[in-house]
Amino acid sequence: GAPITADISALAEGTRMVLEWRGQPIWIVKRTKQMLEILPTLDPRLRDPKSDNLDQQPAYARNELRSIKPEISVLVGLCTHLGCSPEMKAEIKPEPFDPQWKGGYFCPCHKSRFDMAGRVFDGVPAPINLLVPPHHFEGDNAIVIG
Ligand code: FES
Repeated sequence: GAPITADISALAEGTRMVLEWRGQPIWIVKRTKQMLEILPTLDPRLRDPKSDNLDQQPAYARNELRSIKPEISVLVGLCTHLGCSPEMKAEIKPEPFDPQWKGGYFCPCHKSRFDMAGRVFDGVPAPINLLVPPHHFEGDNAIVIG
């Protein structure tokens, strides 16, 4: 499929926009400062915290935040277990069933959890982090996917 361009000028902090590229949902999320501060504290609970596997993200997103700009996260919105679409749980609050998980993405199919960088939390059952699609910025407010 051809590349698509997203206009993120109206994307509010802490929210997500969803596009479609090559038949897949693409999420663009503008993370808050608080969300970014939590990410490094989760490492002990993550299967692949540094996310340096090039199959899962392009080289420019091979870092803990998994992004080009710290606040903007671009992900393929499909669970790496069996392909359901996870729900975004953006509220920064301890989840009753596991206070250490501070929100992120939750897959309703078999309960995989991901943090706000799409990294697998506790590694069950999703085998790898959510994928980061190829993308780049054109100016401050346009992201080209593909
Ligand atoms: Fe997401 Fe199985 S498809 S946990």
